[in-house]
Amino acid sequence: MGCYKYNQIKWMNTKNTDNKIPIYKLETKEKVLEYYTSWTKNNQYNLDMVDWNYIAPKNAAKIFGKHAINKSINILDAGCGTGLVGQELSKEGFGNLIGADLSQDMLNLVPNGLYNKLDLIDLNKQLKYTDNYFDAVICVGTFTYGHVKAPTLDEFLRIVKTNGLICFTINEGIYQKYEFDKKIQKLEQNNQWKILELKKSSYIVNKDVDAWFCVAKKNKNNLNFI
Ligand SMILES: C[S@@+](CC[C@H](N)C(=O)[O-])C[C@H]1O[C@@H](n2cnc3c(N)ncnc32)[C@H](O)[C@@H]1O
Repeated sequence: MGCYKYNQIKWMNTKNTDNKIPIYKLETKEKVLEYYTSWTKNNQYNLDMVDWNYIAPKNAAKIFGKHAINKSINILDAGCGTGLVGQELSKEGFGNLIGADLSQDMLNLVPNGLYNKLDLIDLNKQLKYTDNYFDAVICVGTFTYGHVKAPTLDEFLRIVKTNGLICFTINEGIYQKYEFDKKIQKLEQNNQWKILELKKSSYIVNKDVDAWFCVAKKNKNNLNFI
């Protein structure tokens, strides 16, 4: 993808989403964790996602399914939360899933048997998985205000096999603010991955928030030299 397209994308992002949802105001890991602890009481997170028409898990699973032909690949659902993405992947025929999240309260709401394993992790730190371990990583709703930052994409590249897929969403409000635009472009310029798809699409419909949906393929000879 050339610079022209990246520059074009830059000028298309004009909406201010900063005040759309209270969680967008949180800045520390501790505050984010506290928020999810109360949001999961009485299953409220899942109820709100239905109420808000949070369409990202379905959209992401469909986009991912277009590029991932083999249904038995092992996939890390990074920031899996309560398993909404796992459920959509499962509908698309993918069943070899590991889920990982910062919040044990969110993981406690994951339906039994959806993932082979659930890991409690901080995606802003070095991940405990070995190099080239996964066929794919999917990360939906987690690159958002106060959550996970762009350098995590380097870790996704490390733990995914050559030709493996990395599929993720980025809340439109932080795409430039947290420099995801630059990071995505740099990884392509450095020949570390090839962008297969990058488009802005519906994310939380009833809150009028969109996100960038991206699918990238890890290149051969990825040197991971950032
Ligand atoms: C909006 S929810 C999305 C969950 C799920 N992917 C979905 O689409 O429903 C964001 C998730 O990111 C998790 N999260 C926030 N910061 C994180 C971090 N540093 N490391 C791992 N997960 C994190 C939260 O606990 C929460 O489950």
